Amino acid sequence: MEKLIVEGGVPLRGRIRVSGAKNAALPILMACLLAEGKVELSNVPRLRDIHTSLRLLDILGCETSFEGNDATSEVTNLSPEAPYELVKTMRASVLCLGPLLARLGEARVALPGGCAIGARPVDLHLKGLERMGAEFELTEGYILGKSGRLKGAHITFDFPTVGGTENLLMAASLAEGETILENAAREPEVEDLANFLNAMGAKITGQGTSVIHVEGVEKLTGCKYKVMPDRIEAGTYLVAAAITNGELLVEDCPFQELDAVSYKLREMGVWLEEKADGVLVKRNGALRGVDVVTQPHPGFPTDMQAQIMALMCVAEGTGSIEEKIFENRFMHVQELARLGANISLKGRMAIVRGVDKLVGAPVMASDLRASASLVLAGLAGAGKTHISRIYHLDRGYERIEEKLSAVGARIWRENE
Ligand code: EPZ
Repeated sequence: MEKLIVEGGVPLRGRIRVSGAKNAALPILMACLLAEGKVELSNVPRLRDIHTSLRLLDILGCETSFEGNDATSEVTNLSPEAPYELVKTMRASVLCLGPLLARLGEARVALPGGCAIGARPVDLHLKGLERMGAEFELTEGYILGKSGRLKGAHITFDFPTVGGTENLLMAASLAEGETILENAAREPEVEDLANFLNAMGAKITGQGTSVIHVEGVEKLTGCKYKVMPDRIEAGTYLVAAAITNGELLVEDCPFQELDAVSYKLREMGVWLEEKADGVLVKRNGALRGVDVVTQPHPGFPTDMQAQIMALMCVAEGTGSIEEKIFENRFMHVQELARLGANISLKGRMAIVRGVDKLVGAPVMASDLRASASLVLAGLAGAGKTHISRIYHLDRGYERIEEKLSAVGARIWRENE
């Protein structure tokens, strides 16, 4: 097991480049199952979850490659089974369900377990696919799905589920007739998936809004596509500049997709300025605590909740964070408290009282974004912070210690 050591107190200065978006690349890789011919993807981040997705494509009968940030996939002999030992390591594997039903008319996908941040059910995925003619049986921890050719349907989601919208978009692309998705997720990564599907010949309109129309087609063909930059990685580095009182130029930053985050950071006293080659970020005077509520896009993203909490820990005054998306996404609170943070929890509400300084200590990562918040707090803290279980971090941040060291951070990896 590896751990990350962060020696805080250094204002970060320089340029940092954002990698491709994990949460766009994962569904796009699963959508490759729909294509006849070769798909060539660029700007694919080198992350654990990407390697896992490529391994799943191999198991499902594709020829894949991954060189640098370029990945390819070509269906050779499709098989319907996504095994538990792989699905349990990455919940997003459930995104192969829609493509397998659309392509094969059958799927045997292990039910993704919960994870640290919540139960993470997939009932909305299954209900939508049933409306398109699929039938499901849950047995021995597997979702067994069967369908003839899927039929277009008018589906209204109870909740704008990101994964549910993505599974239905992929299924509808090859279905017979028109599908309308209402109360669909508006996340930029969902939009990127829809744009990728259209590049393969799908007929999707309305992506990025809560009503998406899909006109089913007979087949999709391979294409070349560049994955969008990662807005959550970008947001994490904006906070890194502010929390260390440094100044960064964040290159390839999808700033338009970060409106809710930039609004709150500016309210806290962070200076953000769009330049020709990226976003300039630094403090604009003293930092102040603010009130944040996580919402579906375009509201404040739950994936930035732990990171802005770390910043609030060192701001003046009191801030609050209400986590409305996941039922258990405050695992970082007790770890931040070990660094001297003053946070009190009341159900899904966290009250953060700013402190003068954080002091390094051994802490433990519990999930991807919690580990990012511990790195941020460590960068601001006096002394050394030892972060264990950093395999969580490696799921979503490409070369994080290399990128942060290049702008002055004292951060390195050691074996525990
Ligand atoms: C995606 O997860 C992201 N993962 C998550 O990012 C992100 O936090 C989440 O969207 C919300 O933005 C990927 O894209 C791979 P949801 P997903 O379906 O699709 C409930 C990260 O850190 N729900 O919108 O699982 C669910 O329990 C990860 O990069 C149902 O009840 O999110 C949750 O409370 C973490 N039934 C809420 O909706 C369903 O059928 C949001 O889930 C589906 C979801």
